[in-house]
Amino acid sequence: MLKIVVLVSGGGTNLQAIIDGIREGTVTNTELVGVISNNYGVKSLDRAKEAGVPAKVISPKDYADRAAFHRALLSGIDEFAPDLVVLAGFLVRIPEELLERYENRIINIHPSLIPSFCGVGAYGLKVHEMALARGVKVTGATVHFVNAGMDEGPIIDQMPVKVQDGDTPEILQRRVMEQAEWVILPGAIDDIANKRICLENGKVRRV
Ligand code: GRF
Repeated sequence: MLKIVVLVSGGGTNLQAIIDGIREGTVTNTELVGVISNNYGVKSLDRAKEAGVPAKVISPKDYADRAAFHRALLSGIDEFAPDLVVLAGFLVRIPEELLERYENRIINIHPSLIPSFCGVGAYGLKVHEMALARGVKVTGATVHFVNAGMDEGPIIDQMPVKVQDGDTPEILQRRVMEQAEWVILPGAIDDIANKRICLENGKVRRV
């Protein structure tokens, strides 16, 4: 059984896709052991509660400085003893200690086809604003391992999504979630849990 912890900051629709995947059997050999949010009062916490998954808030507001927050985050994750840490809309820069401790065991979902519209400042709705401003006709989502670079880790999977005339950032965000994120994030977890992928020379290979 692959034990996973999901880190969230907001609505948690990706978290929900994981919960549903496990419940419906499209994600197998996986146990969701905990959810951690850096924000209080977000819908992700209700989703965890409804699914009967232990959830805790580790907010920077409760700590004297960033270093103390990072220590709390690390020990909060360690308490769940996960095999894999899943960043599902987690809007916190991952501290070095966490990257070291969980090397090659952290994955993230990003709402574009990396290397487009990623890196510093490219998060949430901004990513879709950037795609529309550039006028691309295809965007999508990427699930990747997390390393010290920003959105630079080995790519596990990508899914394209068509941009349509009249799209607003909000409409495009929703389509990318429905058609791409909620598919490839649970899919990547299932692949990892069932040992269908491995890392080789910094790239993901299917085995
Ligand atoms: C998603 O678009 C994700 O790709 C991005 O933040 C959003 C989170 O949505 N990093 P949700 O909290 O899973 O609903």
